[in-house]
Amino acid sequence: MFEQADTVEAARAIQQRAPGIAPIAAVVLGSGLAGVAASMADTVAIDYDDLPGFPVPVVDGHPGRLVLGTLGGLPTACLVGRVHAYEGDGLAAMRTPIRAARLLGCELIHLTCAAGAVDPDLAPGRLMAVRDHLNLMGGDPLVGRNEPEVGPRFPEMTRAYDPDLLALQRDVAAESGVDLAEGVYAGMLGPSFETTAEVRMLRVLGADAVGMSLVPECILARHCGLRVSATAVITNAAGAATRFADGHARTLAASDTAAGALAGLVAGCLSRLAADRDAC
Ligand code: HPA
Repeated sequence: MFEQADTVEAARAIQQRAPGIAPIAAVVLGSGLAGVAASMADTVAIDYDDLPGFPVPVVDGHPGRLVLGTLGGLPTACLVGRVHAYEGDGLAAMRTPIRAARLLGCELIHLTCAAGAVDPDLAPGRLMAVRDHLNLMGGDPLVGRNEPEVGPRFPEMTRAYDPDLLALQRDVAAESGVDLAEGVYAGMLGPSFETTAEVRMLRVLGADAVGMSLVPECILARHCGLRVSATAVITNAAGAATRFADGHARTLAASDTAAGALAGLVAGCLSRLAADRDAC
């Protein structure tokens, strides 16, 4: 009950700061991808610091701000900055922001992140729509007492990444000339990068890209009934990041290059969803 009370309190605090705002979509922006929120209109920004139960990101490039407004014409809540499990709060670190988004009325969530390429054909700077994931993080954010008012004890994960939202990403990318790959994302706990043997293992298991986020957020979102879509920005070849002392700086730089394309893609998808809603 307590965790859910936390979520209710956070949602109430958001409504007080942004009265009348009723987001339909939530967007989580990862490393170096905060620029996606720059094309929002009519915004109200709230620091995570000011919201009960919201985690405080500490990694460079993660300012930790909730931005409410419209994106592509659709009422949207952008979660600018995430907390990774490896930062110490565990796999449920993003539980309150995700559940608060649902409580505020969001129906879908678009997750973004940086990732290393496991598929050698995925060059740094490319975008990859996530078709599915492998949970190799050593746990699950739903371990512990279930709160039935939030979601079921055993949530279904066979179609975790909404096929219609994936098709929408594909269409919008094709229409706007964005080179969008599609593949399976493997989530590893981190913060150490993968060994050469682990990269080989990931390939055998069917992964196309690897990262340290996304998976617990997808699970939390599906549990509370949000439709999920996700795009990864390929920043490096998996394993190669460890060969450079400035591995994290390189991740941020490659994100910068692809961030413009990603911003257009996300806004394009939300705009199509807004048009479909208007047509109903
Ligand atoms: N491995 C794990 N996480 C990552 C990587 C990687 O190579 N690149 C960006 N995030």
